[in-house]
Formats: sequence, C-alpha cells, structure tokens
Amino acid sequence: MKVAVLFGGISGEREVSLNSGKSVINALESKGHEVVAVDFHPERAEEILNLQVEAAVIALHGKYGEDGRVQALLEMAGIPYTGSGVLASALAMDKARSKVHFEKAGIRIARDVLVERGDDIEQKIKQWDAQFPCVVKPAQEGSSNGLTIAMDEQMLRQGIELAFQADDAVLIEQFIKGREVTVPVLGAKGQEKALPVIEIIPKNEFYDYESKYAIGGSEHICPAQFDEKTTQTLQEWAVLAHQVLGCAGYSRTDFLVPDEGAPVILETNTLPGMTSTSLFPDGARAVGIDYPELVETFIELAIT
Ligand code: DAL
Ligand code: MG
Repeated sequence: MKVAVLFGGISGEREVSLNSGKSVINALESKGHEVVAVDFHPERAEEILNLQVEAAVIALHGKYGEDGRVQALLEMAGIPYTGSGVLASALAMDKARSKVHFEKAGIRIARDVLVERGDDIEQKIKQWDAQFPCVVKPAQEGSSNGLTIAMDEQMLRQGIELAFQADDAVLIEQFIKGREVTVPVLGAKGQEKALPVIEIIPKNEFYDYESKYAIGGSEHICPAQFDEKTTQTLQEWAVLAHQVLGCAGYSRTDFLVPDEGAPVILETNTLPGMTSTSLFPDGARAVGIDYPELVETFIELAIT
C-alpha cells in the first residue's frame, strides 16, 4: 500500500513528532508498504492536496497537526487519514473547551479559570482566589510545554506570561496530587475499547518534558495496579471522553488518581506520541498488538 506519513511540523512538539514519524515509517516499511514521508509545514499544503496515496498516517503532534487543520486539508484532498476528524481534533486540542464536554458527561474534572488574551489578568487572578499550588498551562499545547506549577501569586503571574508565549488562552487549574495514569482507546466508531491502564512513574518530581522523552526518564507500569473499581472507572471514562469529543480510531486520555476519591481527567490526546518511549504502543503491546500491527490497525480504521 502507498501511504503518506506526515510528521515533524511546526508546533512546540516538533521534536517528539520527528521521533513518532521515524518509528511509524520504520514500522510501515517493515510491513512492505511504500512510504511517502512528508515533514509537514503549512507551506506544503498544496503538495498534500496532490499526494497520490491510498491513506495518510498523521504522526504530528500539537498545533497544525493534532488540531484539525491538517485533517481539513486531507479531507479536501480526499485522502483517508488516521485518527480523529476535524471537529474532534480541534476540540480535544483545546483543554478548556473539552473539559466542558467531559464535565457534562459526568467525568470528574479539576476546577479551573480560563484566561484569554485581552482579559483583565488581575481580575482573573482574583477569581482564582489564591488557591495554591495551582497549574498554569497553555490551553492548546502538549508534552507539558509552557506549564508551570505555581506556589504563589507571583509564580502564577509569571506562569500566565510564559503560557501566553505559546498560546492565546491559558488555563489556571487546581493542582491535584495523585498518580499519573493514561488510558489508550482503540476501535471503530461505537466499538471503541480501552486498552490496559498505564501508570507513569516519572524520575523527576513531575511528568515534565524531560521525563516524557528522555530514555529512562520515566517508568511505565502496564497494566497499572489499581483496585477493580478504579481501573473500571478509568477505562470507562477514557472511552466516554473519546466518544463525547467525537474522536475516531484511537486516542489516549490522561488522568490523575488522587489517594481519595475518583480519578480526575486531564486531557484527551487525539494523536498520542508514537515514539519508542511512548505510552500508546506500550498499552497495545500489553494486549498482544506489536508496534507495526498497531500502525496498520490505525490505517485499517481510517479506510474502512
Ligand atoms: N502530546 C504527546 C505527544 C502525547 O500526548 O503523547
Ligand atoms: Mg497532550
């Protein structure tokens, strides 16, 4: 099969995507597919419209890749592509707006205040009401880019400024102390299944950029050791999150599990990392799907 792999891109997660792309290309070639590799930039849009391929695998992360824009281009080109469509991609990319849907579906979320460019920041800080520590992050970034854990109001102000360098909208969120977990979801519309829950034990204090991508930066426990009820809630909510956002094919939803009470959802990734240290492939391996087979499954889901 002749398949395009879109990778790289121009988001803050470019480096991650270069690695995801490399792994995906190797996997497809190992299965005998003909690969057209495209390091995607918006200037190459016309090239995409003229690609003569049977399907495209999107190995991009973040802006222009995970947020519905490249998906719209592929729709116009009439090329089937892996993962979610335009609307679900755009919605999932916006952490603030996707939380509205999660909450409505009955999934537990962290309290937050959204600060958009042009807002009165002092008034928003007042609205936050001095709850520290808190997390400050760009509404549309991944891999912990631009994220601050603020211990006081001064750090909060600096955190907002930093996050605004990456985005026009910033989320101030309640800091939840808990175990970091993630749940991959795979399957055709209406038949999605959660793969085993994965717990992440970062070497650093938090699961930051370094812990995510340095070899040995974190340890993944799959399947994670939780009681049956917690495991069930995590898997049900991951499928529900995928469905309420209207995702397709696959996604991976991140949660925190506090010592007390239900898990708290963080976000759904419509194009989760596919690097050699990434989580989704670990979850698939735990149910006997190896990496090349996983990529082929993404393509099958895209073309059927
Ligand atoms: N945003 C990164 C790629 C992930 O969620 O895996
Ligand atoms: Mg992410």
